[in-house]
Amino acid sequence: MPMLDDAALDQIFRTARTYNGYTDATVSRDDVRAIWDLMKWAPTSANQMPARMIWCTTDAAKAKLADCVSAQNAPKILKAPVSVIIGMDRDFHEHLPTLFPHVDAKAWFDGNAELRAASAFRNSSLQGAYFIIAARALGLDMGPMSGFDGGKIDTAFFAETPSVTVNFISTLGHGDPATIFDRSPRPDFETFNTIV
Ligand SMILES: Cc1cc2nc3c(=O)[nH]c(=O)nc-3n(C[C@H](O)[C@H](O)[C@H](O)COP(=O)(O)O)c2cc1C
Repeated sequence: MPMLDDAALDQIFRTARTYNGYTDATVSRDDVRAIWDLMKWAPTSANQMPARMIWCTTDAAKAKLADCVSAQNAPKILKAPVSVIIGMDRDFHEHLPTLFPHVDAKAWFDGNAELRAASAFRNSSLQGAYFIIAARALGLDMGPMSGFDGGKIDTAFFAETPSVTVNFISTLGHGDPATIFDRSPRPDFETFNTIV
């Protein structure tokens, strides 16, 4: 497999930033679909794919979400072209006969709510990261956030699907460089790594 070139690595990692605001450039429904159509190929355990994404594109949907987040985050949600909820379905196992047909993987999770909750959190977090990488790979920017009232988001957006709860949220658009802070440090390998 060939290595990506430096421009691609910069775009996805080294010069990519977390944005607090965006230009007026629009994000289309096709853009949103393209993100999903890329990120869906990345791995989750037993292909569980527990993430349930809600893409808030209208002013009304963004206002509903902004009402559930911290005062600092609310204006970002309202102004972003798209604001995204990355939810997680603790009943993801109901889909395993389709998503992982090789074996009866649903049986591993039937009756084990604790295992399902841990798996949903682990794999939807991964999918949230894949969302970030896919958006950047497609030339978009985002700003993930955990400053919100999860209970309020669950009531506002997942009342009809009680097995789904929010993991984290994000804005999405074409980043405005005027809205970023100075880059925080990223330690060298030795600081947080051990090779044994
Ligand atoms: C899961 C997650 C939650 C975050 N929550 C918030 C938040 O609530 N509000 C905020 O302003 N930034 C939030 N951030 C942004 C981080 O502070 C930012 O991504 C980090 O400092 C790296 O910034 P950089 O990508 O520009 O280097 C969050 C980031 C992540 C990944």
